[in-house]
Amino acid sequence: MADNDAILISGASGCIGSTLARLLHADGRALVLFGRNRESLDKLAVELPGAEVLVGDIGHADTLAGTTTFPERLAGVVHAAGICEGRPFADSDPAIIREHLEVNLVGPSELTRLALPALRAGRGSVVLVNSLVGLYPWPGWIGYAMSKYGLRAFAETLRLEEFDKGVRVTSIFASRVATPLQAKVHAQEGKEYVPDEWVQPETMARTIRTVLDTPRDAELKDITLMHQHYPRP
Ligand SMILES: NC(=O)c1ccc[n+]([C@@H]2O[C@H](COP(=O)([O-])OP(=O)(O)OC[C@H]3O[C@@H](n4cnc5c(N)ncnc54)[C@H](OP(=O)(O)O)[C@@H]3O)[C@@H](O)[C@H]2O)c1
Repeated sequence: MADNDAILISGASGCIGSTLARLLHADGRALVLFGRNRESLDKLAVELPGAEVLVGDIGHADTLAGTTTFPERLAGVVHAAGICEGRPFADSDPAIIREHLEVNLVGPSELTRLALPALRAGRGSVVLVNSLVGLYPWPGWIGYAMSKYGLRAFAETLRLEEFDKGVRVTSIFASRVATPLQAKVHAQEGKEYVPDEWVQPETMARTIRTVLDTPRDAELKDITLMHQHYPRP
């Protein structure tokens, strides 16, 4: 990985994505801000001089090949786009399940495939922002759980297929992170939302930076990131 190779952040307009972009920009890293909303990405790019904007809709994977042109080399692709709707299985709706699978699984898979030549050239890392729900069953979030379990399978397969080409793959299985998505989750659960109780977006961003900065003699395969007051036996 050359120092000037860019890191592409998918979901750069989101809370975790934009927090990461600010952290990496302060480190002097080259960035590609990827997302569907040009206006919010352009606004972020003004704040982060030198950052490139790349517009594509992760929720419509079939359109990505036609709309997306990548740099020749990438030091990393971080997948920080996603949706989460609370819905128990008995009330599930195929459209909502399908949307989770499109945005959280099929889109990231296709974006990674399209970025693969640049990742191989840059001996880059793929970082997937997964959830504890991708490791353990949790009632009430059927579409989210299906998509995040699938994302884990994607990461495992990608790692096996790409390790000898120099591409490293890391899943971060995170507990709740204090972002607007989490505020919405609390509202759906009918619970009071206290952001300080949860992992802060800056901590999540620093964890992702640690993955990206890991020397090439090692690979951080999986990280489980709990909030401090996670229930313990
Ligand atoms: N917050 C948590 O507690 C938590 C915990 C574990 C894992 N995660 C994961 O972290 C990732 C980022 O979450 P966040 O908390 O930072 O959420 P966020 O602030 O709501 O950001 C979500 C991002 O996903 C994009 N997005 C949402 N719906 C989309 C759609 N239909 N098509 C394309 N892009 C879409 C948004 O783009 P727009 O700005 O264009 O809407 C935004 O960039 C997600 O994968 C989530 O599952 C979050």
